[in-house]
Amino acid sequence: MHLLRLAAASLAALLLVFPAAAQFQPQVGQAGKDVIWVPTPDEVVERMLRMAQVTPNDYVIDLGAGDGKIAIAAAKNFGARSMGIEYNPEMAKHAQGNAEKAGVTARARIVQGDIFVTDFTQATVLTMYLLPALNLKLRPQILAMRPGTRVASHSFTMDDWEADETSSMDGRRAYFWVVPANVMGSWTLEVTGGGASEKMELTLEQRFQKIEGTLALGATQAGLREARLRGFSIAFSYVDGKSVRRDLAGRVSGGRMEGGFRADNGTEGRWIATKK
Ligand SMILES: C[S@@+](CC[C@H](N)C(=O)[O-])C[C@H]1O[C@@H](n2cnc3c(N)ncnc32)[C@H](O)[C@@H]1O
Repeated sequence: MHLLRLAAASLAALLLVFPAAAQFQPQVGQAGKDVIWVPTPDEVVERMLRMAQVTPNDYVIDLGAGDGKIAIAAAKNFGARSMGIEYNPEMAKHAQGNAEKAGVTARARIVQGDIFVTDFTQATVLTMYLLPALNLKLRPQILAMRPGTRVASHSFTMDDWEADETSSMDGRRAYFWVVPANVMGSWTLEVTGGGASEKMELTLEQRFQKIEGTLALGATQAGLREARLRGFSIAFSYVDGKSVRRDLAGRVSGGRMEGGFRADNGTEGRWIATKK
């Protein structure tokens, strides 16, 4: 009995002297579910959040949060709301502790979860430092997110979905994408301006954010010029049957697009397109 009391007292004394002995200590390289933990360096975190132009209106989600540094920086330095999803329960707890220490728990939280299960569709900005195969596995879900959602990845690409920006710092790369609206297919385009209105068939081909297309002008399939898609913003030009060039710009909202145009003969007007 005396011995037991002595052992308990010694253990209590040991924990007083070495409180850290009872705490989880993260180790770089420790196992996660699909990828180990290696933290993103501060300057890369900074660029990822800057290239995504994070503001206090954003909801940033870091997929595979590690010690929480990206979610914490988004809240602390950019005023955003943020969430980190971390599979390792001890690491998730440690990261939440880091958020508490940083005084950002009103805006940032780290949850224990699996990025292939936990819902992240509400994010306006996604960040990740995973692996090429994991980015590719997540890609269909990311492409199905709201057009305009920004994505920043440390080190790894999205295969043939080319980045809109690549930045490098000290040999490390950060990639950036904007989720494009889905505009592929046939549309009825109505252009109204200069006292006239015209209806034409517009056909758009799309590969991620890259688009091209044609406009039916009688028997002619007139090619579009400078067709551009960025999130839900679309722009393209064409030369009509009277040699007039029209520059159209507008917004995509599901099966409808609309905006304004300017022509090089000085006319201006509006356009609407509806998906067939
Ligand atoms: C390379 S670290 C990046 C950490 C942090 N995002 C950063 O950039 O500093 C990847 C993290 O993802 C976690 N992880 C691995 N598979 C996961 C999964 N399926 N769901 C959630 N987190 C996962 C690992 O435990 C690790 O902490």
